[in-house]
Amino acid sequence: MEAQRQNRLILVPCPFQGHITPMLQLGTILHSKGFVITVAHTKFNSPNPSQYPDFNFLEIPDGLSDLNVSSKNFVSVLSDFNITCKIPLQEALTQMVKTDGHLEKINSIIYDEYMYFCNDVANHLQIPSIILSTSSAANMLTYQAIPRLVKDGYIPLKETMLLDPVPELQPLRFKDLPFSNFTDSDGLLQLISEAHKTRTSSAIIWNTAKCLEQTQLAQLGQGYHIPFFPIGPMHKMVPPSCNNVLEEDHKCISWLDKQTDKSVIYVSLGSIAFMDEKEIVEMAWGLANSKQPFLWVVRTDSGIDEDVIKKLPESFEETVGERGCTVNWAPQKEVLAHRAVGGFWSHCGWNSTIESVSEGVPMICQSYFGDQKVNARHLSQVLGVGIQWENKLERGEVVQVEIVIRRLMVDEEGKVIRHKAKELKEKIELSIRQGGSSSSSLNDLVNHILLS
Ligand code: UDX
Repeated sequence: MEAQRQNRLILVPCPFQGHITPMLQLGTILHSKGFVITVAHTKFNSPNPSQYPDFNFLEIPDGLSDLNVSSKNFVSVLSDFNITCKIPLQEALTQMVKTDGHLEKINSIIYDEYMYFCNDVANHLQIPSIILSTSSAANMLTYQAIPRLVKDGYIPLKETMLLDPVPELQPLRFKDLPFSNFTDSDGLLQLISEAHKTRTSSAIIWNTAKCLEQTQLAQLGQGYHIPFFPIGPMHKMVPPSCNNVLEEDHKCISWLDKQTDKSVIYVSLGSIAFMDEKEIVEMAWGLANSKQPFLWVVRTDSGIDEDVIKKLPESFEETVGERGCTVNWAPQKEVLAHRAVGGFWSHCGWNSTIESVSEGVPMICQSYFGDQKVNARHLSQVLGVGIQWENKLERGEVVQVEIVIRRLMVDEEGKVIRHKAKELKEKIELSIRQGGSSSSSLNDLVNHILLS
């Protein structure tokens, strides 16, 4: 079923790179199915409308100025959005319906799970709503388990149990739970419990594929009573586009062109996680000594990265020479699809995870916080396409960095991982082809929206 042009969807992304990207991808996919797309976004990290000439953009005044977001205040910022954006969105949509309500019908509000205030707005306007979950189903399972873990006395987590397996969530250990190392774990638990509720929304869309998380999706289904649509990986269903908050540096592509096949280790920690000064120095020498060519995203907005690299002794430059390339922000999807890239040292944000497995690139999984820990475990222990890095990047780890890179990319020991990564890429390709599980789910989603 294809939507008629008068069918409009309001998309409300959560304003962080890892969330804006999949929401805009979803918009592109649904626009290709005939829907008119309006993106209602905060002033903070607003997307660039010129990249999406087919969409309408509606700014919601967020009432929060000069935000500087890190993993430390992430939770409170997200909670604040849910308070400050509600009335402005309600008013903006009411105005929109009044102005051209006779021309266009709003079929649904599709909102990021962390922008849960949208459910109230939808109810107020009597419009159906749908949730987009931008993380993994494996991560959502941990949210679903929280009431049980509280009831059984496992939460608050105890230091002595961190290495123990979580009942019914293996291979996760307590330390892998998304809230285990948060300073504001009460705040996070509260946010998670809000984000996890489906309220009156009619369905959940997942940026995942059955071949990635079949068991987890089936388990989740037992706890929810609304339909699920796993339609990912969405970035493989849309033409490449740039909606980055930071500007991409394309010089690394011409550098990659000069490297041999599958020789380059790509290092990036996404848009929120940072290495501290000690970690950067250890990583720099580990990369230098690994003898593999490397492409490293060293973000200047971290405040320290670039200075630390500049201060490395001359011997670093001598060892590395033309073998290393650093950029502030890479065109990551293009990088991962490049024939020269053979491994990804990643923080395991869900977007980076699905971008890597879609290209058959095996990973070194160095998670920092939240869902990244669940994803790292899933990649290494369930899918078998990554090696988990759990050491601290402190003095003396250089040798380990060097060893793990060579193990993933060259040594006989990593052969099985590389092979599994290749196989998974093939399965993902099948799932997005016509008749594949994600492609069929997408058709079901379109029908669901039209019939709601
Ligand atoms: C955040 C959370 O940290 C993550 O755990 C959650 O799963 C999603 O939200 P982020 O840390 O930015 O996301 O990581 P990730 O989900 O991997 O998204 C990063 C995006 O930025 C990816 O789409 C990646 O392609 C892009 N990117 C990253 C670039 O385009 N260039 C870069 O140099 C680095």
